[in-house]
Amino acid sequence: MNLAIIGTQWGDEGKGKIVDLLAPNFDIVVRYQGGHNAGHTVIIRKDGVDQKFVLHLIPSGITHPGSTCVIGNGVVIDPRALLEEIAELRKKGIAVTPQNLLISNRAHLILPYHVALDRRVESHRGSNAVGTTMRGIGPAYEDKMARRGLRAGDLTDVPSLLEKLSVNARQANSLLTHLGGDPIDENQLLADGKQWAELLAPHITDTTYYLNDESRKGRSLLLEGAQATMLDIDHGTYPFVTSSNSTIGGACTGAGIPPAKVGTTIGVIKAYTTRVGSGPFPTELHDKLGEDIRAKGNEYGASTGRPRRCGWFDAVIARYAVMVNGLDALALTKLDVLDDLAQINICVGYRINGVETAQVPFDAAAMEVAEPIYETMPGWQQPTMGISNFAELPEKAQTYLARLSELSGAPFAFISTGPERNETIIDTALLAKHGLELKIN
Ligand code: GDP
Ligand code: IMO
Ligand code: MG
Repeated sequence: MNLAIIGTQWGDEGKGKIVDLLAPNFDIVVRYQGGHNAGHTVIIRKDGVDQKFVLHLIPSGITHPGSTCVIGNGVVIDPRALLEEIAELRKKGIAVTPQNLLISNRAHLILPYHVALDRRVESHRGSNAVGTTMRGIGPAYEDKMARRGLRAGDLTDVPSLLEKLSVNARQANSLLTHLGGDPIDENQLLADGKQWAELLAPHITDTTYYLNDESRKGRSLLLEGAQATMLDIDHGTYPFVTSSNSTIGGACTGAGIPPAKVGTTIGVIKAYTTRVGSGPFPTELHDKLGEDIRAKGNEYGASTGRPRRCGWFDAVIARYAVMVNGLDALALTKLDVLDDLAQINICVGYRINGVETAQVPFDAAAMEVAEPIYETMPGWQQPTMGISNFAELPEKAQTYLARLSELSGAPFAFISTGPERNETIIDTALLAKHGLELKIN
């Protein structure tokens, strides 16, 4: 049985924690879109000490010795970032080998000129800047769509790689210079290209055949989404989005598997909302409360360290994410962060230019002026951190959760009360209904 994990809000919902928790139940963990703009945190407690891993490109299953991890064709890979991540994991004692990390030969490469272009284009946008992670994500996907990108498979044929790199570097340099930037050093790029080829080639293979063949043999897939529904290039708050399909369709196109193979779909959602970068955020809190949530939830970007904007739970978005992705269930995270609050708001609709709606508008400008319509619930003001049994949650927390689930239109398969694996309430009966008999350690 396969399972997809999807972000429902603007990212950083805790996808890494949920994937890490589930990974021992699956044979293969697959990243299928995005790049190292993602930062997925995994906390493992060993001998009383927390070890923290932030995964950017490598699937969050990598710390489990039995997992095979796949970087699918829909991902954009910066070879430098990937090599650094591999080195970092090895330093922490995690084995990364051509056997447990497979890279799709169809995945496109992020090259240094993409990063330089990301910076130039953002600075030209001025006050309309997207607030990208400056990782070259947009420019790399642009080259993919313009049919001039280089792919991981190109790293397996060095003479042809060098030729393609040279042509692309010249083209990119003329654009960079035109935009007032500095050209990148072509000779350095060619030298780096040879080195990347040598180090990464053993991992590169046709993962489309691999995943379909393994699936046919009965091996199970855990599909790990990056970013989130509201950052999706089609369904998010365009143009304040990322450049890939982070909604469920991306799992098929980005892994090369048919829709029927995606299996169960679970959306990860915070008990409140956060956003990094620019763009509309109707329930954003600009006051001390927003700062308190940021401090308690440690809401700073796992990739860029930027403070995350914080606000109330938005049920309009939650319902939209359930609809667009066909979510079977939700994994609610960070309930513990709300423990101290006397009152908690839930956004149940928007008022846009005087008109009430319960739908996400297509236009970012309309979303920007949307005033949230709130329902207020009493807080529980008791600690929930670490609770792993639903019945032990304060009654008011149970009532809050029931209302969130009702408004979102999906049940909670997981309720997370802390960053660690065991700080999780799991509805095993609900998962069993979807054919997922989980062993959780
Ligand atoms: P991702 O990008 O969706 O994987 O999420 P990030 O790793 O960027 O951000 C989620 C952060 O919340 C990480 O620092 C996690 O360790 C932490 N986290 C996850 N679940 C919980 C939870 O239930 N409670 C608390 N307090 N922290 C959590
Ligand atoms: P995970 O997987 C939160 C945001 C950026 C910016 C916009 C476009 O950890 O949830 P990009 O660099 O992709 O062109 O930036 O998307 N963004 C994320 N925000 N979590 C992420 O990933 C993000 N990846 C991109 O902040 O607003
Ligand atoms: Mg993150």
